[in-house]
Amino acid sequence: PTLTPFVEPLPILPTIDISTGVPITLGAYKISQSVHPDLPNTTFYGFGTSPETATYPGPTLEAQKDVRSYVRFENHITDAEHIFVVDRTLHHANPARGGVPISVHLHGADSESRYDGHPEAWHTAAGDRGKAFVTLDNEYPNEQPASPLWYHDHTVGLTRLNVAAGLVGLYFIRSKAEEPPFLPCGEYEIPMVLQDKQFFPNGSINFPDVGVVPDMYPQWCPDYTGDTILVNGKAWPYLDVYRGVYRLRILNGANSRSFTLAFSDPRIKFLQIGTDGGYLWKPVELQNITLAPAYRVDVLVDFRSVPCGSSVFLNNSAVDTVLSNGTTPTTNSVMKFNVVERPPGSPDQYVEIPEFFGPVPNVSALAAGAAYRNVNLTVVVPPKGNISFLLSDKHWVEPATETPHIYSTEIWDIFHLISSGSHPIHLHLVNFLVMHTQAYNFTRFNASECSLLLPYTEPSSCFLGPPRPPQPTEIGWKDTIIVEHGTVMRLLVPFTTRSGAKYSFDPTTFPGYVWHCHNLDHEDNDMMRPLLFLPPV
Ligand code: C2O
Ligand code: CU
Repeated sequence: PTLTPFVEPLPILPTIDISTGVPITLGAYKISQSVHPDLPNTTFYGFGTSPETATYPGPTLEAQKDVRSYVRFENHITDAEHIFVVDRTLHHANPARGGVPISVHLHGADSESRYDGHPEAWHTAAGDRGKAFVTLDNEYPNEQPASPLWYHDHTVGLTRLNVAAGLVGLYFIRSKAEEPPFLPCGEYEIPMVLQDKQFFPNGSINFPDVGVVPDMYPQWCPDYTGDTILVNGKAWPYLDVYRGVYRLRILNGANSRSFTLAFSDPRIKFLQIGTDGGYLWKPVELQNITLAPAYRVDVLVDFRSVPCGSSVFLNNSAVDTVLSNGTTPTTNSVMKFNVVERPPGSPDQYVEIPEFFGPVPNVSALAAGAAYRNVNLTVVVPPKGNISFLLSDKHWVEPATETPHIYSTEIWDIFHLISSGSHPIHLHLVNFLVMHTQAYNFTRFNASECSLLLPYTEPSSCFLGPPRPPQPTEIGWKDTIIVEHGTVMRLLVPFTTRSGAKYSFDPTTFPGYVWHCHNLDHEDNDMMRPLLFLPPV
């Protein structure tokens, strides 16, 4: 259906203060919600404290640094079948009594693994449970830097379906000590959850039910993208803003689409002040900003130079990669900002933007003595097996191979060994720094003329030039990072977790963590591996 853009305001997501020590319960419910006035209501799965208040995206949870939060996630989706077709040739949660399994992961959190929403820790409304299930009641220590986290479903083989169906929400850790006092706040701080979807004329979500290789996988498709851009659950919304400075806290919650955002007026830029893991040490000014799936950015946008009564468009220039109708220009547009007069008598905004937000991490000191680990992004194609994306040629069900010592620091070299594409790689529990990226000679490597496996001596003829330092959007503490084809990316990964490590070695409370591609269609087939810890050295 063709929908007129910019007809409804951007929804301001409900918030819940979880810094009081009082446990809260969020249920997952089947809900009906309007994405656009010209489209009948859409069935989503949403989160809320009751069926009446459940929304897509779910409420934004507001935590305080060093104050524990207690969040119980219940499953009240009582349908016998998922709203999308489950591909039963992939491994998937298969509850005895049917239903829709969920396992809610707090993305970016440093918490014990029994609270991490392990893929096999799913449960259903009827009470069936996956083999890694420990508890519904999660405890989040919030002992990490002030940062934008998000919660979303992580059920094995169903993550792409449950997230596309709406099981996502934001989670902010705030800190009076870390946060500069005069950043834009209140109505000047706008959380934004970006997703793309396709809709049928009856309003329901069109998620493919015919696979690209139907004789192997009847339903699975490698990159779900839609022709409709949703922000906070509305198709191409608008927001009225004053001539002031706004703080946009943007999450790319899409299954597989990357966004490259820019304003229609080139004088309006992004001042990026934060990333996945919290504040950058120094703000970066950007004309456009790229968000791969699961990326969060914290940006300041100054509308003071825009005349009242005019509008600025937020556009997307990232190209669609796969879907047949994916090049439709509708996805070039995200939302519209109308600059309006401040109501008479309302106070002026006072803003101070510090030049520095914190100390620059000392990469060489952190890297001293680190162990090297080599991992690969690979693909298996027939006749060796059904097509699947893999990590180091291994499937999800195989025993863990990434088993760092807790509290150790490792340097990960991620080799993208697939002939095309890019993959947003995510590690649970920790944040990392990008050290560099280096292009290598794919042809020579493929012809086995270069061994890039450790211990390698970096034969220069196998690389296409020197390593390049991190790009502006790769700077800072990240938990998800795009690895481009034909490159090796080097990450510095301190496994110096605060809380997560505490019970790391007791198998009854330690299902362990995972690392995976955050293209959710890849993650479900089969680009995910366990991340387990050995005792400290
Ligand atoms: Cu956003 Cu393993 O997840
Ligand atoms: Cu991938």
